[in-house]
Amino acid sequence: MDKSKLSKAIGELPGVGPNKNWTNELERGRRPGPRMEQQVVLPDHFNDSTKCVHSGTYIDENVGAVGTPIFQSSTFLFSSHTYESFFQGISRDTPIYTRYGNPSQWAVQEKIAALEGAESCAVFASGMAAISTALIALTNRGGSIISSQDVYGGTYNLLHHDMHQLGREVIFVDPTDIEQIKGAIKDNTQVFFFETLSNPLVKSIPLKEIAQLAKANNILFVVDNTFLTPFSSKPVLHGVDLVIHSCTKYMNGHSDLTAGCVSGSRKYVDRVWEQMLRFGGHLDPLSCFLLERGLKTLAVRMKAHTENAAILANYLASHPKVNHVFHPNHDAVSQKYIHEYANNGFSGLFSFEVGSNEKALQLLDALNIAVSATSLGGVETLISMPFNTSHSTLTENQRKQIGINPGLIRISVGIEHIDDLLADFEAALSKI
Ligand SMILES: Cc1ncc(COP(=O)(O)O)c(C=O)c1O
Repeated sequence: MDKSKLSKAIGELPGVGPNKNWTNELERGRRPGPRMEQQVVLPDHFNDSTKCVHSGTYIDENVGAVGTPIFQSSTFLFSSHTYESFFQGISRDTPIYTRYGNPSQWAVQEKIAALEGAESCAVFASGMAAISTALIALTNRGGSIISSQDVYGGTYNLLHHDMHQLGREVIFVDPTDIEQIKGAIKDNTQVFFFETLSNPLVKSIPLKEIAQLAKANNILFVVDNTFLTPFSSKPVLHGVDLVIHSCTKYMNGHSDLTAGCVSGSRKYVDRVWEQMLRFGGHLDPLSCFLLERGLKTLAVRMKAHTENAAILANYLASHPKVNHVFHPNHDAVSQKYIHEYANNGFSGLFSFEVGSNEKALQLLDALNIAVSATSLGGVETLISMPFNTSHSTLTENQRKQIGINPGLIRISVGIEHIDDLLADFEAALSKI
């Protein structure tokens, strides 16, 4: 691919780059970015695999580096452009100080925004930094958030323990039930916050109906799309206002950093960015480099995760020692709405039941390739049990009420060869 042609695309955008007088443009608040003149910006019609590799790359013409350099600097020289940016209130687009913005952040942000089909993205030090910053930025004291008890435990704790201390009410509903969501709306409802696939039962949600409901009631719709990634699903294109990821998971994909991101229209991401300046949860340049590198292989990784998971889920569904498989190909609740918004596979995450916690623990012990650890979305197969990890604070009855039966195992299928994974499970299941 001719890089000079790619970099030309950004040069043609009005007023982008340090030397352009974009301060004269009235509609700057709705412009995509931040972007630099040196960055690759691909037109939307390019495929995701191509965007993964090229979108956002900073082309350093001085030395001809093929990848984005790591801008490991906390601060940047003042110029007349910097002063102008302060006066015009456009400091998000100017290299000033790394908490405000850094070319390493802008490179990876452009790649994520391109994949999401979003105008803008902000990257954070973790998924939780992204979620907490976004939810505070989008709500006021006295406002109300509608969410679900099925969300990731850390998010639930934030919603349950901290939000009311900060003057935000949180109402928990079943996100698969649109009538419950409707019934929970009040005059002060400001945000819907749901996950596109729940943990650990991978339930799907009526995403399009929720988006319509949000729009009709002037409520912002925010989703956590960590399990699906923009390769499988682009919620912004289905009416969602902001999409959040724990990039610690599939987005980076190598279990070697923590990061988060928020993407959506420039208007809302700017608001979240302002809050990030005060909370300080931005992503550092070295981690931006790692995340950008990880994202280059998102498409090939997600294909491999999805294929491996589908084959393993099939195998487990027909195994006499497995009671049920919670995977969109095998579970009615999981598949109910998933095809509305995930049209490129379902990632590598699913759950299955083997009847008792004792048997499940034996299975975990007997597996060799699949290793027991928390987290998900890495190239390695990770396996864990909700009863002694994410849902350990609930009683057995409470767990049953939310569908977590004894012997439930959650698996994040990696990209190892499927024959080796199947052999690992065959041998381990024969021992329980
Ligand atoms: C769905 C989901 N959202 C958010 C988070 C929080 O992300 P992080 O650990 O990067 O803060 C997690 C972590 O497991 C998660 O699974």
